[in-house]
Amino acid sequence: MRLYDNPASPFCRKVRIVLIETGLTDQVEIVPAAGHALDTGRMPLSENPLGKIPVLTRADGPALYDSRVICRYLDALAGGGLYPDSRLWEVLTLEATAEGIMDAAVLMVYEHRCRPEAAQSPAWVEAQWSRITRALDAVEARWTSHLAGKLTIAQIALGAGLGYLDFRHGDRDWRAGRPALAAWESQFATRPAMRETAPGA
Ligand code: BEZ
Repeated sequence: MRLYDNPASPFCRKVRIVLIETGLTDQVEIVPAAGHALDTGRMPLSENPLGKIPVLTRADGPALYDSRVICRYLDALAGGGLYPDSRLWEVLTLEATAEGIMDAAVLMVYEHRCRPEAAQSPAWVEAQWSRITRALDAVEARWTSHLAGKLTIAQIALGAGLGYLDFRHGDRDWRAGRPALAAWESQFATRPAMRETAPGA
């Protein structure tokens, strides 16, 4: 299998964490990819017409995307147990919340990276940050019980999302006023899979 990957992408990091946690790393070749909607030259367009990464190619079927599909596939392949039946819908919803945090955080970066300065909208950037803070507040208030116990895809997605906030939006201090989430993250970040996949590691 080949994984089209960028070390800065939280979506790709999530997949790389799953590879390590499920013991599948040796079965996947990492292929560097980069770009965005305005610069698709180094994106695997024939594998994913949307021009996004991560993408996973495999011998026995079409390429898989996006990160949610890839992670579920890898977990099924390895019997990883990252999607427990007993609380599947909660786990998937928390995973979706973490992916929404990543989406908004990446859009903030792209607003600066892809648009000329005069066309950038500070209000739009702040609206993305509001999406993130609402989601973080919801996790702090309602979801911390799901962060305890056996490893799930929701924990992995949240770890990757919070890591990306530190990486690209460290000046915003997402930990302020969220002690439970901050304590969970500092513990989760010590996992070998988190250390190995940290941007810049
Ligand atoms: C980044 O540089 O922040 C980034 C790179 C690829 C995908 C998403 C984000």
